Amino acid sequence: MKIVCRCEDITYEDVVEAIRKGYTDMESLKRKLNFGMGPCRGRICIPLIMRILAKELGKKIEEIEYPSERPPLTPLPIGIFAAGEDFEEEG
Ligand code: FES
Repeated sequence: MKIVCRCEDITYEDVVEAIRKGYTDMESLKRKLNFGMGPCRGRICIPLIMRILAKELGKKIEEIEYPSERPPLTPLPIGIFAAGEDFEEEG
């Protein structure tokens, strides 16, 4: 079992199975599997899943369209962006 999305616990096999069921673009795959929604916002998994999709479809990675980005639903303190990984929540 190879994990491709650590935040959402999605495996390589999950991705291949979804592609073979007809989810053949990043947008529909993202909706089906819910990857890219974890704390890393897909920085780790999206490039991996794009490569898997390209391989399964026999396409070049450049032919795979990046999925749309959505901002978080709840407002975030601006300090998160300024502090980066060093951010600590007050309280
Ligand atoms: S590894 Fe997929 S959202 Fe973080």
